[in-house]
Order: sequence, then C-alpha cells, then structure tokens
Amino acid sequence: MSAQVIDGKQIADTIREEIRAEVLRLQDKGIQPGLVVILVGEDPGSQVYVRNKAKTCEDLGYHSVVVRLPAETSEADLLAIVGRYNEDSAIHGILVQFPLPQHIREKAVIDAISVDKDVDGFHPVSVGNLVIGDDALLPCTPSGVIELLRRVDISPAGKHAVVIGRSNLVGKPLAMLLLREHATVTICHSRTPNLSEMACQADILVAAVGVPRMVKRDWVKPGAVVIDVGVNRLPDGKLCGDVDFDDVLPVAGWVTPVPRGVGPMTIMMLMANTLKSCKRAHGLDV
Ligand code: GUN
Repeated sequence: MSAQVIDGKQIADTIREEIRAEVLRLQDKGIQPGLVVILVGEDPGSQVYVRNKAKTCEDLGYHSVVVRLPAETSEADLLAIVGRYNEDSAIHGILVQFPLPQHIREKAVIDAISVDKDVDGFHPVSVGNLVIGDDALLPCTPSGVIELLRRVDISPAGKHAVVIGRSNLVGKPLAMLLLREHATVTICHSRTPNLSEMACQADILVAAVGVPRMVKRDWVKPGAVVIDVGVNRLPDGKLCGDVDFDDVLPVAGWVTPVPRGVGPMTIMMLMANTLKSCKRAHGLDV
C-alpha cells in the first residue's frame, strides 16, 4: 500500500480563493487589508520569499508595501521604521524578514512590532496567548500544518504527535497547537536519544529539523501521518525535505511532499493573519 500524498499547493489554492472572496466583501465596505514586508540586506533566499509574499498580496488585492533596506541599516533605524508602520492605519500586518544582519537583534525587532499587527505570531504576547489558549495571531508555518490536517479530515485528538525540532518558529508553537487540538505531544530534538524509536511511536510525525531526508521508513509507524516541514537546498540546487519521501511512501498513511507540501500553506496563513488583523482593526468579527 502507498501513502496518500497531501497536496499542500492545491489546499493553499483553495484557501487563496476563500480569502479572495473575503477581500471582495471587505472592498464593498471600503476596507483593504495591508501588509508591509521589510527586508534588510540581500540574502538570496529572503529575496525570493519577499517577492512571493508581495506577489500574493497583489494577486489578492491587498495593499502591499515592500521596504528594502541596505545591510548596514542600524537597529535603531529599523525599529523606527517598524514604529512608523505600527501607527499606520492602512497597514494591518508587519513582517520583518529573517535572518537579519548580525548587528541587529531579532528579539528587539520582534518586541517592537505591535501585537495587533504581529502576523508572524513571534511576539512574546502572541506566544503567551497561544500557550494559554487565548485568541492570538498564530505563527504561519505551524498554523499551516494544523490547517492542512483539518482540510484532509485528520483530527489530532487522541493521537500521539511526535514533533522533531524545538525551534521558536516551528517546533515549539506547533507542539502547542497540536496540544490545543487534543493530541498527546512529544517534542524531540538533537539531544533526544533513540530518535527513530520515538518517531516510530507517532500517529502524527512532524519533521522540522533541517536535515535532508533524515526520516526513513523505519522511523515511521505503518499508517502514520508524516508532515515534512523541512526545506533543504541540495548541492545540485534541488529542494528536499527532512523526510525521505520515496522511502516512507510505502509505509506511511499520509505524507506531505517537498515542494508542494507545507510551504505553500505558510504564505496563505500569512495572508489569513493579515486579513484577520484587518477585520479586527475595523471591529468586524473574525
Ligand atoms: N524567514 C524564514 N521564515 C520566516 C518567517 O516565517 N517569518 C519571518 N519574519 N522571517 C522568516
């Protein structure tokens, strides 16, 4: 038997059309969601991500601002720019693209973004609200994973979810979201002994470590759901995930590919967060 492949691109396209319809409804009320993306320096990967975000904004009829700053920009200048967009009522989401140049503290930037416009969900207040189960803007990749599961009718409730990776961007918030969805959650990381044995116990296995094709078939319980959050660039320029897709395919029940898996969901969750923030700013139900 072969696993069912979860088509993240197709699901993201469906969500795109749902968002488009909502944007048109807002347009009738004279309301337009606005997102600013701030890029400091010339990191090639970041330039691609920022271009994609701006393109998606334009496609959906958002007010889209891209601020490109030289790598030498001081932290104080960047914080001042963030402060300006905190006050700008046409902007509902602020995203400062990471990684930042070494001389700028990412934490200082995250803390400076208004919680209401924190569409990355990285601000400590957003993280705190997520942990205690209050309403919050959720980090995009983890909420993209939850949305993928929902759209293919996989409920985490009562399942054992094993998350490999404990980053603030993905592993930790995703573990909290899975917990909120009533999964029993285990977080594994580089110091976990017997990683493959832990992975084997998962009904839902999430790999978010950044090691190309680390998860092999003998890490996967037959029929398990395997979610690959890894995006690794191989020496030949091709993209691959943290899961050895071809190897796990005959064992898993469900598996996400790379590309066309979690990736396209991340950007759609950013658009959804900006829309939510916009509706909140206008006192509309979200
Ligand atoms: N760089 C890579 N992923 C992300 C992300 O989700 N948000 C931001 N701000 N920067 C990133």
